[in-house]
Amino acid sequence: MKPLIAGNWKMNGLAASLLEVEKLGGLMGGRAPADRDVLICPPATLLAALAARAGAYGVFAGGQDCHPAPSGAHTGDISAEMLADAGARFVIVGHSERRADHGETDALARAKAEAALRAGLTPIVCVGETRAQREAGEAEAVVARQLAGSLPQTGVFVVAYEPVWAIGTGLTPTLEDIGAMHAFIRDRAGPEARILYGGSVKPANAAGILAVANVNGALVGGASLKAEDFHAIIAAASP
Ligand code: PGA
Repeated sequence: MKPLIAGNWKMNGLAASLLEVEKLGGLMGGRAPADRDVLICPPATLLAALAARAGAYGVFAGGQDCHPAPSGAHTGDISAEMLADAGARFVIVGHSERRADHGETDALARAKAEAALRAGLTPIVCVGETRAQREAGEAEAVVARQLAGSLPQTGVFVVAYEPVWAIGTGLTPTLEDIGAMHAFIRDRAGPEARILYGGSVKPANAAGILAVANVNGALVGGASLKAEDFHAIIAAASP
C-alpha cells in the first residue's frame, strides 16, 4: 500500500509560509517520490495558493475540515465542493481538536466524510482515545465506537489513528501499542483503507513508526510546518 505522509498545518501559516512548499520541493529534488503520496493541509486561506504551488511538485493539497452541505446559509463554513474547487484532493474530518473545540460528534464526522466523497475528495477520518480512556483500558472500545459512528458507509477513505494524549505533546505510544491499535482498526476499516498514525511524529521517530505493520503513513502536525522536518519524515516512509 502506498504510504501517505500528510501535513496538518492547523491554524498556522500566512502567505509567507508558502515558501516552505518551495523549500520542500527543492529538498525532494523537484518532485515528490513516486512511491509515496505527500499531502499538505494548510489553513483554508492558503489552500488555493498552496494547491497551485504544491501541484508542480506532485504534492497534494487538502482541507482541514468541511461542512456536510454543498452550499447554503452557514456563515464561516466551507463545503467540500469549495475545497475541491480550490484544488484540494483530501480533507481531514473528525480531528480531535474539532471534536473538543466544536463539540463535533461521530455522526457529524461521518456526514462530513460523506460530503467529501460526494465532492470527489478522499476523507481522512480521525479517531483516538484520551489519556484517561487509555489508562482506564478503554482505548479499543473508544476507537471502535468512533469508527462505527464516523466512517463513511462506502467509498475510499483514510483513517488516522491519533491518540489525543500524543498530539502536540512529544509523547507517543510504544510501537507495540501502535501496531496493536492499527491491527484493530484494520479489522474494522477493511483491507483497502490507508491507516495513518498521528501524534508527535518527528524526524527522529518516523522511521520506527512507519515500519510498524498496518501503519500506511502519518498525519503530522507541528513537524509539517518546517520543510526540513517534513522532508525527513517523507524520506523515512519507505513503502
Ligand atoms: P502533532 O499533531 O504532530 O503536532 O502532534 C498531529 C495532529 O494533530 O494531526
